[in-house]
Amino acid sequence: MGVVASAPAKVILFGEHFVVYGEPAIVLAIDKRAYAKVELRQDKQLHIHSKNLNLTAHYENGILKIEHGNEKEAKLKFKPVKMAVDKVLEKYGKQVGLNIEIESKVPVAAGLGSSAAVAASVTAAVGALLKVEMPKENVFRITYEAEKVVHGTPSGIDPAISTFGGALLFQKDTGFKSLDVKMEIPLVVGNTGVARSTRFQVEKVRNLKEKYPQVATPIFLAAREIVLRAVDAFKDNDLETLGELMNINHALLYGLGVSDESLEWLINAARKAGALGAKLTGAGGGGCMIALARNENLESVLEAIQRAGGTPFIARKTDEGVKIEQG
Ligand code: PMV
Repeated sequence: MGVVASAPAKVILFGEHFVVYGEPAIVLAIDKRAYAKVELRQDKQLHIHSKNLNLTAHYENGILKIEHGNEKEAKLKFKPVKMAVDKVLEKYGKQVGLNIEIESKVPVAAGLGSSAAVAASVTAAVGALLKVEMPKENVFRITYEAEKVVHGTPSGIDPAISTFGGALLFQKDTGFKSLDVKMEIPLVVGNTGVARSTRFQVEKVRNLKEKYPQVATPIFLAAREIVLRAVDAFKDNDLETLGELMNINHALLYGLGVSDESLEWLINAARKAGALGAKLTGAGGGGCMIALARNENLESVLEAIQRAGGTPFIARKTDEGVKIEQG
């Protein structure tokens, strides 16, 4: 008998890149989750198996020993898991060995927050297995620490949304605030399958901003206004306005050079198929796009994205953040 916990992936609806410079962003938890099952071991070792990545390894005195799969990949992917486990054990003064099995439904390295969803579910599952009191705030902190190991200086969006779920308004200096979104947000997420680097895309924006400060300033102001208008549109249950704002937000990101051909294909296909709005989500330069559509149009938008060469799935907002599934 073990404990199973899960945590959701995310999409950034508005404000990526601008958020790096202190502007607000809106992020949504979606109904694709990562699951972590943990069990106690007789010894003090940490064994990790990822079903979807087909990787198995364990740590012996802190050193990773690969059992199945690519060692480099295991080192990278298991590092935040090990970090999350170490932080929980340290915080609660426990010394135990664990078997961890990860099963994630979240596409990896696509800007959907898969590593944070895995780290949050591992953190909560280990806490529950050890029967310690672990408020969500602690899950968030530990997940954030684990994320720092992978991403250097992440904004904290991914651990926050994976932990708390729902919709969050995020701003660098003020942190995050839960948005009360009553309506359904029917989305199609389209994965271009093109690998991208968040760091590289952020650097691209920085260069452009430094080279053309006068041009960039109004673009950043427009991005802020988009988020403020979107907050109102959520209050008014106004899906059409949200779609329009997504289109404008994408145009701004395009202007900053972070779209690419693969994203443009999918975005145009989605709009032609009747999406209310479509934009890249996350860092851009590949990765994923999102399209907002009325329920009756979701399937045709999905098919159009598929025909255009993307890998689509329908996603909806979920209010369920990290949670214990079993145990
Ligand atoms: O790494 P992604 O694709 O989830 O996107 C990161 C969002 C950025 O605004 C581009 C960077 C950041 O740290 O907020």
